[in-house]
Amino acid sequence: MSVLGKLKSVLKRALSGEAPKPAPKGGLDDLQGNGGPVRLRNDGRPIIINDLIRSHGYKSYLEIGIRDARTIKVVDCPVRHGVDPAHPCSHQMTSDKFFAELPDDFKYDLIFIDGLHLEAQVDKDIVNSLKHLSEGGAIVLHDCSPENEDRQRHYDDLSKIKGVWNGTVWRSYAKLRMERKDLSMFVIDMDHGIGVIRPGQQSLFKMPKGRKLDYSLLSDFRRELLNAFKPVWVCNVDEALRIVEAEEKFFLSDCQCQHGIGGDARVFEYPCITFKQGSPSAGDNEREVDKSEVKRMLGEAAKKGLVPIAFRDDRELAMPGGLCLCSDELRKCLLGSSPV
Ligand SMILES: C[S@@+](CC[C@H](N)C(=O)[O-])C[C@H]1O[C@@H](n2cnc3c(N)ncnc32)[C@H](O)[C@@H]1O
Repeated sequence: MSVLGKLKSVLKRALSGEAPKPAPKGGLDDLQGNGGPVRLRNDGRPIIINDLIRSHGYKSYLEIGIRDARTIKVVDCPVRHGVDPAHPCSHQMTSDKFFAELPDDFKYDLIFIDGLHLEAQVDKDIVNSLKHLSEGGAIVLHDCSPENEDRQRHYDDLSKIKGVWNGTVWRSYAKLRMERKDLSMFVIDMDHGIGVIRPGQQSLFKMPKGRKLDYSLLSDFRRELLNAFKPVWVCNVDEALRIVEAEEKFFLSDCQCQHGIGGDARVFEYPCITFKQGSPSAGDNEREVDKSEVKRMLGEAAKKGLVPIAFRDDRELAMPGGLCLCSDELRKCLLGSSPV
């Protein structure tokens, strides 16, 4: 079996077994492409959710809208509650009913809103979630960045929807980007736009003159309106370890990228790990090391909370060409500072 095949089967096994499910080890099943950075698969939300849980030591998780439980079953959190009127879960009811019955002082550390994707409902889900969010908690909102106008079309009859539909979630998110200085918000531009909303502060998006809240506004000002950024990273440390496990040769070099993130003292002196000698992605002072040294570095990276980037080089476009331990851009966002 190819290495890619192995990675896929590990992921498939991790996601398909019966409960209790382990946390997902990563999302490396979208390695096809044409040479850009390796990206998280379309289903990246459990990775973001688990990363937030790990980074902050969250203890309680609520998911609004669980459907087939593909996300909630792999969320690694001591308390996991699900709300869905149409699927068996801890609270089989609408989110409105759930919140109406929830004692005022009951708080969750992380609330994932992915229920009825209509603006009016999402508005309510966000307000209710903010009310029941513990101090330092976070809301994750799926489907904040529809790729085209059709995916956010309004349907009176939701049974008529065919294909991918993100709904009007983005409008709820966008309104808060224009109105709520007391929130910190960004969208990770993957998996249809994963919004993260927390109490904090932000510079509001100002509606340009003559414009209104319609799809052309989103399309013309997507990055600013959503405070969106494209992740160039992919891995958590477990996933990086699996990549390393499948490789034979390792070269460390100084790719200089660590200087681009403001001289973070945790970053390694030689943060770039490539898997072939003289890779175009390698930096200065390339030197060969063995697998155990790379694994030791990854262990250290995990303790320091660094997020590894997997990148392609010209070796084989479907495979990662190396890993960079310089980037904790994602970690910085998840831990609170603004990504852009
Ligand atoms: C997009 S799916 C959820 C997907 C799931 N969170 C995941 O990550 O795979 C939306 C779910 O929301 C549920 N839903 C619809 N209306 C709802 C409501 N008012 N309150 C809570 N859930 C709702 C639907 O039954 C459906 O299962």
